[in-house]
Amino acid sequence: MAVNWALPFDEKIYPEKGVVVEADAYTRMHSSTIGDYRNFWAGIAHEIDWYKTWEKIIDDSNPPFYKWFAGGELNACYLCVDRHAMGPRGDKIAIVWEGESWGDGAPKETKRITYRDLYKEVNKVAYLLKNTYKLKKGDMIGIYLPMIPELPIVMLAAARIGVAFTVVFSGFGADAIAERMNDAKAKLVVTADGGLRGGKIIYTKQMIDEALGDAATVRDVLVVRRAGCDANMLEPRDRWYHEELAKIPDNARVEPERMKSEDPLYVLYTSGTTGKPKGQVHDTGGYMTIVHATMKWVFDANDEDMYWCTADIGWVTGHSYVVFGPLMEGLTQVMYEGSPIYPEPDRWASIVERHRVSVLYTSPTAIRGWMRFGEDFVKRHDVSSVRLIHSVGEPINPAAFRWFHRVVGRDRVLFGSTWWMTETGGIMISHVPGKAIIPMKPGTNGMPIPGIDADVVDVNGAAQKPGERGYIVIRKPWPGMPLTIHGNPQRYKEVYFSRFPGIYYAGDYAVKDSDGYFWILGRADEVIKVAGHGLGTYELESEIVRHQSVAEAAVVGVPDDIKGEVPVAFVILKAGTEPGDGLREEINAIVREKIGHIATLKDIYFVTRLPKTRSAKIMRRVLKAVVTGTVIGDTTTLEEEASIDEVRAAYSELQKELGNK
Ligand code: WTA
Repeated sequence: MAVNWALPFDEKIYPEKGVVVEADAYTRMHSSTIGDYRNFWAGIAHEIDWYKTWEKIIDDSNPPFYKWFAGGELNACYLCVDRHAMGPRGDKIAIVWEGESWGDGAPKETKRITYRDLYKEVNKVAYLLKNTYKLKKGDMIGIYLPMIPELPIVMLAAARIGVAFTVVFSGFGADAIAERMNDAKAKLVVTADGGLRGGKIIYTKQMIDEALGDAATVRDVLVVRRAGCDANMLEPRDRWYHEELAKIPDNARVEPERMKSEDPLYVLYTSGTTGKPKGQVHDTGGYMTIVHATMKWVFDANDEDMYWCTADIGWVTGHSYVVFGPLMEGLTQVMYEGSPIYPEPDRWASIVERHRVSVLYTSPTAIRGWMRFGEDFVKRHDVSSVRLIHSVGEPINPAAFRWFHRVVGRDRVLFGSTWWMTETGGIMISHVPGKAIIPMKPGTNGMPIPGIDADVVDVNGAAQKPGERGYIVIRKPWPGMPLTIHGNPQRYKEVYFSRFPGIYYAGDYAVKDSDGYFWILGRADEVIKVAGHGLGTYELESEIVRHQSVAEAAVVGVPDDIKGEVPVAFVILKAGTEPGDGLREEINAIVREKIGHIATLKDIYFVTRLPKTRSAKIMRRVLKAVVTGTVIGDTTTLEEEASIDEVRAAYSELQKELGNK
């Protein structure tokens, strides 16, 4: 089926700076890198420091569980901190942190942390974890912190002593935390009394207290004082971070642990379409290699840059491109604590101006947020320092691309949309100004980066025709791929390597146009992308049915002007219960508390039955079509075993029911 996605496949925009090559020249260069991808990646891995070089570039004796640079030894914290602190970058600022609170005209709170400061602080925290808490290689800790400097510091300190960590986004609620802590078997959790967002306090410690009732492995809680609110410290479990650190000598040093390349660095959870979230286990050597490569190629990073990735560290973008990437490259970066529109909608533009940001990595949701308030808010500020922009997390619509390119990019800078996933560890498809630029097209993702064999395939796994929708896959292993799903290797195999045997299935729909550009269209599964954050419909449904009056629930994502997508729910009530707004509010309160604010349901429709296939699968396409008022087309998707007549019948029945209300 040929489709018209109404995407500007033919429009080409040339950035003012950089080496621009046409698509076919890039494709030729790219082919040469994937032909001998092992040696290609080994060449890149040699650019980072190893205590010991690997014995094998890739141990592929047990696919799909690949071990990159097997036998090599390195330490991620050493790469990000020691190398710079002990070298010429000792006095260079690593992080300019801006707190959210705001005085008259000037920021009330700014911290400038040099690489040497970072070294001292990370060593002290590593000392604390190792000596006070007796944590060692093989242990896991949980981190639930707002965007404050302690967050990267604790991550680096854990990496220093070989302790793996799992960060939970500080907007997540109690159930989401408990589930992750249990799965990860975290022994210690680091949190804060509270965080600041939009001028309000987010009570993080309170959430941890609630979560830990259900998380048996956690023995200790370390609490950073940030918001100054009551932290309800429970003896002997809870201790203040600043008090514990005060007991440690300023010159405390902890040798970085020599980690094997295939030792886990961290676990980060992604939403499952069924069952509990999947803990993606990232290794050390392959991960640091992909992060290093993409910092150079995608962000064209150099010492003079002022880099700013606006992502929260709670998501993979923050792991790779706030913590490990920029620090590994010895850059100076901005880190901002709070809301993009506090105290006014120009906050981000003012940060760009104040710190002379040159490389900006943000998201389509943020960009649409800027657009909503209009360009006057941007024009109050001089944003001419920006020389490169990338976005991530969801497809960028051409209108948002054009607006941002004009208003912030002054019609001349390179502006890309980098495609990747928590699973991939680093960016996979993107413009690579650090190598060669192909002309931009508004909304495209560009082409796979060197060494990445990504493609769009049809239902049988054969290369899809140009311009036709297919599934995105990665054919060859790459550094940065997960080691496994934590505690569930079988699931890793099933989810990613069984749809098309032996090759990585990403779960996104995509089109490759006739020039070879990739356009990611969105998830092909039941993950909803709310402001770029993935939520599984299953997770939401499990919370909704907690309400005593709910018998069954189905959640789908519907388009939203700012957030890209938002969840709506169809709910069947137990007999004898009356639907109403009070009930809607109660259901939403559960969702917010247990999963988090991002999961708030935009609408709740009360129905008496749900459209299902003969094998009892919910026909989500029907639900979606009814809400958005779109027409059900003449095809069935792969996922549905229902005939088109059944789909149609279900559609009109549901429409009738909602219309009657
Ligand atoms: C989506 C975020 C379109 C995609 C780094 C993917 C994108 C999911 C883009 C992973 C982009 C990410 N254009 N879609 N530039 N980047 N996605 O794990 O659906 O939070 O599968 O990782 O985000 O989300 P995750």
